[in-house]
Amino acid sequence: MAKFNVRSVLVTGSNRGIGLGLVKRFLELPNPPEWIFATTRKPDGSQSKEVIELALKHPNLVVLQLGM
Ligand SMILES: NC(=O)c1ccc[n+]([C@@H]2O[C@H](COP(=O)([O-])OP(=O)(O)OC[C@H]3O[C@@H](n4cnc5c(N)ncnc54)[C@H](OP(=O)(O)O)[C@@H]3O)[C@@H](O)[C@H]2O)c1
Repeated sequence: MAKFNVRSVLVTGSNRGIGLGLVKRFLELPNPPEWIFATTRKPDGSQSKEVIELALKHPNLVVLQLGM
């Protein structure tokens, strides 16, 4: 993703697995997106702790609830 250059991305299933891995990878880029919208069905659930903690450290990461 060296030449990846976008203003915003939306990652579904961001609390674990491939989704969480993508969020971390985007944050590590030398030119990270201006906004990373990371969705999870239960942002307040214990399984979303890691992505919530990342959002506290990275102002460009916004965690949103999506789905039921
Ligand atoms: N990991 C691999 O190497 C690999 C390889 C090939 C294909 N895949 C496929 O890629 C997909 C993701 O894999 P993964 O390893 O990241 O799986 P995972 O660790 O089980 O994570 C699944 C993610 O999808 C979310 N999710 C599940 N059902 C949902 C729904 N109905 N609406 C919204 N979000 C939903 C989960 O959210 P909750 O926490 O809220 O349940 C979780 O964030 C799977 O379909 C898997 O079969 C994975």
